[in-house]
Amino acid sequence: MEYEKYHFISKPSLERHLEKIFCISKLWGIDVKLPSNSSVLELGAGTGDNLIPMAISYKDSFFIGIDKSKSQIERGNENIKKLGLGNIILLEKDFSKFKLSDIKSKNLNTKIKTFDYIIMHGVYSWVGDKVRESALKIIKKYLNKNGVSYISFNCYPGCIFRNLLIKILLKTQDNTKSLENKIKKVREDLNFLQEYLQDGNSPYASSLKQEVENISKLSDSFIVNEILNLDYKSFSLEDFLNNLKRAGLFYLSDTSFIRGFSENRKEENLKSNFENYESYIDLMFPKITRGVLVTNTSFQRKINLDAIDDFYISSPLVFSGGTGNIGEFKSPNGHSFEFETKAEVDFFKTLEKNWPKPIKLKDIECILRKKRVLDYFSKEFVNFFATNLNFSNQLENSPKVSNFAKIQLNNGDFCTNFRNEYVIFNDFQKEVFKLIDGKNTKDDILNRLIENLKNQNKYDVKVYDELKEEVEKTLKFFLETAYLK
Ligand SMILES: C[S@@+](CC[C@H](N)C(=O)[O-])C[C@H]1O[C@@H](n2cnc3c(N)ncnc32)[C@H](O)[C@@H]1O
Repeated sequence: MEYEKYHFISKPSLERHLEKIFCISKLWGIDVKLPSNSSVLELGAGTGDNLIPMAISYKDSFFIGIDKSKSQIERGNENIKKLGLGNIILLEKDFSKFKLSDIKSKNLNTKIKTFDYIIMHGVYSWVGDKVRESALKIIKKYLNKNGVSYISFNCYPGCIFRNLLIKILLKTQDNTKSLENKIKKVREDLNFLQEYLQDGNSPYASSLKQEVENISKLSDSFIVNEILNLDYKSFSLEDFLNNLKRAGLFYLSDTSFIRGFSENRKEENLKSNFENYESYIDLMFPKITRGVLVTNTSFQRKINLDAIDDFYISSPLVFSGGTGNIGEFKSPNGHSFEFETKAEVDFFKTLEKNWPKPIKLKDIECILRKKRVLDYFSKEFVNFFATNLNFSNQLENSPKVSNFAKIQLNNGDFCTNFRNEYVIFNDFQKEVFKLIDGKNTKDDILNRLIENLKNQNKYDVKVYDELKEEVEKTLKFFLETAYLK
């Protein structure tokens, strides 16, 4: 198949990690199983880059990924073999034809009948109507009674300018041309539009210009899968909910908690008006792709504040000054937030001290109301985690990273950290990362870098101190970005 050449590898995101899916489901009162003891199915799993880090973290859980792309499944299975994982299989198959006997034939030591989690990311909006329908049928058939499914789709009206641009770009395509030529034509048209729209100041031109800029930066595989994909379709939340209803599935919420929750929202509105409220939020704060949670049985929506007691909490906010009880904190994207009580300032300072490791609320001396902590979660001042993830907040003598992250970095330009996120490394950071193996100390890493430079006749003894400092800085950076075990 022509498209086999253009694998779509999406970057990891906490949004579709079991840790977050679990916490949001629990907060809405769903009794889903802990990620560390669960069964997980992913439809359209590609190379398994989403499932493999979870299979490493949760040794007692089972992971099945299905994709019809032979080359992606082969690559994923090679990685699984290299890592020696026995709790994950990737099947090359059209998921609409999936049967439980497919798993049994693979000798996986499990008696799975239904799954606690079913993930489908980057599929629903990007396949034909029949496959879309069959995907929901598979979810209906195999999602556990208390299970939760994560589905992403491109959402109207957030994608209105994306769709418009796709229409413009498809208009000039010649269907007799090869895929390579079509990609080239898209790039030429994007350049033309970028120039043409340069001076456009109307709201319409500005929005289109922004979308042209966004798309121009993306890979060829994105152009093939989203722009040139004639099956591509976006949905309003309402349309999506109608499709869910037809399939006998139930809408839980968006994975961005704030779309369904606000501290002042009345409890009764959560029950009767929830879906309308989220549609309304979509109109005011449009977003292109929605990641949503879906259940297989109906439920009574209600906020379960006590669930927070069992969560692990972290916060990326950094203290930036203050007087008296007032404390100012900065978020990673540079926004400042002021907290005006000692309890709040102490809470965020404690989380900062533990960063990147999450800690249990009951292990912090915290007198804040749980509803306030939930409000912080909805505003993304804090993150909730289900389990005590195995990563470090202290720099060991011989630091360790995940073997899978190293495999990813050897094959591409990013790797997944222990929070299921990623940071793009520069060349120096990549070199240092590859030298971390749980045995090399800081000095060993420095010496290896010097050796490499000497081999290329690029070493000058004058840069020794600078290089040493860079290595230390880089290891600290890996620690802070949750890459160290
Ligand atoms: C845009 S990619 C997303 C891949 C992956 N979920 C990710 O987020 O990186 C869509 C994937 O769905 C797979 N796919 C589409 N229709 C399928 C079907 N009927 N059965 C199995 N896989 C399918 C494609 O092969 C492709 O790998």
